[in-house]
Amino acid sequence: MTDSQTGPSRTVKERRVALVTGGTGFIGSHLVQRLVSDGWSVHAIVRPSSDLTPLSDCIEKIVLHVHDGSTLALEQLVRSTHPDVTFHLAALSVANHDSETLEALIRDNILFSTQLMEAVARCDIKNFVNTGTFWQHYENREYSPTSLYAATKQAFEAIVQYYVEVRACRTITLTLFDSYGPRDPREKIFSLLSKAAASAEPLPMSPGEQFLDLVYIDDIIDAYLLAAERLLGDNVQCNEHYAVSSGQPIKLQQLIKLYESITNIKLAIEWGGRPYREREIMKPWDAGVALPGWYPKIPLDVGILRTLEGAFKNGTQGG
Ligand SMILES: NC(=O)c1ccc[n+]([C@@H]2O[C@H](COP(=O)([O-])OP(=O)(O)OC[C@H]3O[C@@H](n4cnc5c(N)ncnc54)[C@H](OP(=O)(O)O)[C@@H]3O)[C@@H](O)[C@H]2O)c1
Repeated sequence: MTDSQTGPSRTVKERRVALVTGGTGFIGSHLVQRLVSDGWSVHAIVRPSSDLTPLSDCIEKIVLHVHDGSTLALEQLVRSTHPDVTFHLAALSVANHDSETLEALIRDNILFSTQLMEAVARCDIKNFVNTGTFWQHYENREYSPTSLYAATKQAFEAIVQYYVEVRACRTITLTLFDSYGPRDPREKIFSLLSKAAASAEPLPMSPGEQFLDLVYIDDIIDAYLLAAERLLGDNVQCNEHYAVSSGQPIKLQQLIKLYESITNIKLAIEWGGRPYREREIMKPWDAGVALPGWYPKIPLDVGILRTLEGAFKNGTQGG
């Protein structure tokens, strides 16, 4: 493992220390930026292969740790950084696995996650924010995975329970729904719509009867910070679970209409041009408990506008 030479030293004792995994991802990079601007000392665990571009705006202000994959190195890393809170967002997310992604799913979502939890427990560092997905709740069930990815998330939650009951860790698992916002590198709904708008090509979609629970990125980051406050406030004694939901799912067909009215562009959608995916969630899970004090502040139309403005600024999306 090597540490980058850049980044803050821990001379200011009052600064809270965050250890973040998944910092090069969509949500993680926004979290890192917010932690930095809120005055945290931020350590991010990356891989030798990680593309650091999403962190370019704040890379001089954080400490990067390149993890070699071993449990021992992770323990040393956690011991040396001694975080007040560990934010665990790293994961491989795939809707359909194949023989190649199967091993990566187990390695990233179970092995790496457990190595991290073990390191945290060995170093007697208690506060841990974990990340789940609404895909663990097909047909609104307490547990029914839509995919092997969702099953690995559930498996890690079961492992977390061991660390809470036996190793005295304190954790909050935030269950996330669909996220959106600027600087999203993924091929998600708004980038698809923007491309279709720019090209005027027909866009084949499913019949569009499914509801999406879209939460704007800043609201999601608020939830992580609030969860950290809750842990630091000594309010958590077990593995608490909270849903980071908009509470206002929207049917895909209506979402497209909203997008068209915001952009003033009529899209050539081919409804039914592709099938629903296997175990498509038609109505997102609504049985989760909201994180105390958290509510989504950004309405969907405002969030879409900000997403489009951000995309134009970065030149990543057309339309
Ligand atoms: N985005 C959503 O709408 C959504 C919905 C539900 C749940 N979630 C959950 O929220 C979290 C963040 O999602 P996201 O969309 O921001 O993810 P993302 O953009 O796909 O990024 C995944 C991140 O995880 C890192 N990672 C994966 N395996 C790793 C390993 N073995 N060691 C170290 N880092 C590893 C990746 O690093 P590299 O740069 O090295 O690849 C990357 O930084 C994930 O846990 C995801 O399951 C997201």
